[in-house]
Amino acid sequence: MNTPYFIGLMSGTSLDSIDAVIVSFSPTFKLHAHHSHQLPAELRQQILRLNHTGPDEIDSLGALDIALGRLFADAVQTLLANSGIAATQIHAIGSHGQTIRHRPERAFSLQIGDPASIAEQTGITTVADFRRRDLAAGGQGAPLVPAFHQALFQQRGQDRVLVNLGGMANITLLPDDETRPVLGYDTGPGNVLIDTWIRQQHGLAYDADGQWATQGQIQPDLLQTLMDHPYFAARPPKSTGREQFDLPWLQQALATLKTPPAPVDVQATLLELTAASLGQAIKQHQLTRPEVFLCGGGSHNQALITRLRHHLPDIPITTTDALGLAPDWVEAAAFAWFAMRTLEQQTSSLSAVTGAKGNRILGAVHFA
Ligand SMILES: Nc1ncnc2c1ncn2[C@@H]1O[C@H](COP(=O)(O)OP(=O)(O)O)[C@@H](O)[C@H]1O
Ligand SMILES: [Mg+2]
Repeated sequence: MNTPYFIGLMSGTSLDSIDAVIVSFSPTFKLHAHHSHQLPAELRQQILRLNHTGPDEIDSLGALDIALGRLFADAVQTLLANSGIAATQIHAIGSHGQTIRHRPERAFSLQIGDPASIAEQTGITTVADFRRRDLAAGGQGAPLVPAFHQALFQQRGQDRVLVNLGGMANITLLPDDETRPVLGYDTGPGNVLIDTWIRQQHGLAYDADGQWATQGQIQPDLLQTLMDHPYFAARPPKSTGREQFDLPWLQQALATLKTPPAPVDVQATLLELTAASLGQAIKQHQLTRPEVFLCGGGSHNQALITRLRHHLPDIPITTTDALGLAPDWVEAAAFAWFAMRTLEQQTSSLSAVTGAKGNRILGAVHFA
């Protein structure tokens, strides 16, 4: 290994864009370049269609797998061109892939975006399919990032909580001493319902800074109906996706109410659902003087942070900027780290998080 660079690729549930970073891990972690690659609307639609059971799934899946693999490779090539770093200097790419179905209860989770195409087009060794092995070992296959959070952010003398506000929200509890296990799980929806509702009502991709939500009133009866989803009370290990928290589920909840709330009040309530479920999850762990660090796109949502502070009045809340890594690039950086671990033949799952029988070396390698 004569070059320290790794590329991480992440495209999450939000379907907002493909995040790509160049990082190195020795002597210490460094972010060298980042790029946010556009996801064409047509591909976004195809991904959403495959998120739910429908006709002609295998042909659609095959075509989309290749189209996304090529797009991920395009993202890498643009990232490299912008950075001035040559492909030959990159040791490997770690590609999370696009989740189109997450069914840990049936031991599968499907991420697509053909890694062979990425390796072929870029000439760079590509590691992908990180979740499978953990699922095979009886785990949820998710969340995986707590291992990376631990490697980068664990601090002796301080309990830290990392919160990733992506489409789904997940937390990592990093205890102040390394002898205690790291815990982590998906707390429920992050931005996914907030995004879905404003898209449906106003055709917007997201509620910038939660401005629309702040104009509405939280509806306690709707909030209670949503919070009654069994996922919130379930004990970890647990992980979730659009399969559980999507528009049909929300519409079902709305249909149970005597008078339907105004759309703006639904938005306020959806924002509150994310904040309240997160706050509840963090509070139930008896942490000593913890600090919360936010990452993911939702960390830009000021209204969401205000509500989270309301639920956690005694806990300082900031973003991973305070830890030296901008919140938008944490997940992509994580998958660069996972690729490095795979090639070093080191384990990168945390069985205490996913519930697997043991820690495993994750990922499948497509050599350059
Ligand atoms: N300024 C902002 N205000 C509110 N929400 C934002 C803002 N910027 C980003 N987001 C939210 O972040 C989401 C993208 O977050 P991201 O971490 O990429 O999630 P994922 O991993 O699911 O793709 C967007 O869909 C949007 O909901
Ligand atoms: Mg994203």
